[in-house]
Amino acid sequence: MTAPVRFLTGITTSGTPHIGNYVGALRPAVEASRRPGTENFYFLADYHALIKCDDPARVQRSTLEIAACWLAIGLDPERVFFYRQSDIPEIPELTWLLTCVTGKGVLNRAHAYKAQVDKNRAAGVDPDADVTAGLFMYPVLMAADILMFKAHRIPVGRDQVQHIEMARDIASSFNHLYGEHLVLPEAQIDESVALLPGTDGRKMSKSYDNVLPLFSPREELRKQVFGIVTDSRAPGEPKSVEGSSLFQIYEAFASREETQQLRKAYADGISWADAKQTLFERIDREIAPMRERYDALMANPREIERILQAGARRVRERATPFMAELRHAVGLRNLATQAKAAGKAKAKAALPSFKQYREADGQHYFKLVDAGGALLLQSTGFASPQDAGRAVARLKAEGWKDGDDAAQLGAGVDAAAVRSALAQLAG
Ligand code: TRP
Repeated sequence: MTAPVRFLTGITTSGTPHIGNYVGALRPAVEASRRPGTENFYFLADYHALIKCDDPARVQRSTLEIAACWLAIGLDPERVFFYRQSDIPEIPELTWLLTCVTGKGVLNRAHAYKAQVDKNRAAGVDPDADVTAGLFMYPVLMAADILMFKAHRIPVGRDQVQHIEMARDIASSFNHLYGEHLVLPEAQIDESVALLPGTDGRKMSKSYDNVLPLFSPREELRKQVFGIVTDSRAPGEPKSVEGSSLFQIYEAFASREETQQLRKAYADGISWADAKQTLFERIDREIAPMRERYDALMANPREIERILQAGARRVRERATPFMAELRHAVGLRNLATQAKAAGKAKAKAALPSFKQYREADGQHYFKLVDAGGALLLQSTGFASPQDAGRAVARLKAEGWKDGDDAAQLGAGVDAAAVRSALAQLAG
């Protein structure tokens, strides 16, 4: 079996999902989560929400809505990792370790921060007016989200690519200093994903107030669809699909044949009222069953809370031991297991190693020792050197777990030290 490719996506919980989010991000993510050979992490970025929103009720409401939305559109929380960022204390903990290897100059160049500074300069006010340290640190928190779960691919819009590059740079700096612990992530931009126009023809975006909310009641959706701006051509006059946001939104929902039919209807002079009715019915056909699930979930926040907490327990099974490994790597260590080789330069040059040997009993053994030669793992006896070698290879590839029957911890060694050593060898 080849190792799974890990995908990870977060959504900031400061708004209400609209049809543009659905078509551009949510629907493709749910489809992607069903690919075999992948692990998929979807989380509610509620720490990120605090950066732009200081209204507690809105953060709570948005977290509930976005969680309900993911579940309603078909994300299966048993099959993916579905959790809330603030339930994972290891994330802010990792954020600090990463903060300490991130150049301030790198953060000075982050788009979101720079945009605010440029705006302030243009307005002739203090360059840092309205800039919180949270906004400045945004990319580091995001790097922690990603690096915590060793994610390989991050599906994002173009606006987020710089953040993924920063996460890579931060991970490289960390690995350079402390060994190969972190996986370097890559942005994945799906060019084919539609950027939907809103009701006024500009990109659908909350900031333009031109969105079709994803789960408004049916009658409200109808009103909103009928509010889409069109030109003034009369019924019977041929209409152009070029630049028609109504047509583009239809295309994002319809099959190829349906799209062809509407194209023809445009040419034949369909009235805007009929075209809007067609679009409304088409969206509603796809959304109605999800809306029903959404309403049921929104009426049962306890169930959503239960699902999120179960998700948090599952991801913390990874985050907790990994954080222990990283703490060890940087020197936040149990003092009873003090490393023999003191001094950073020495620790950097020397690596832990496996040693294989034969004992007087005729059996073959191996041990894992740290850079200073102290025993970390001691194997049981194997009949042949090949058997011992295979066990070593497995430990290198898969790591060591409590109760591993090939090798046991040396006296006074903690598991984090072993994981840290194996991670160094894996790199
Ligand atoms: N910054 C992302 C956005 O606003 C949300 C986010 C937070 C995220 N952490 C992430 C996305 C990690 C991908 C990976 O859209």
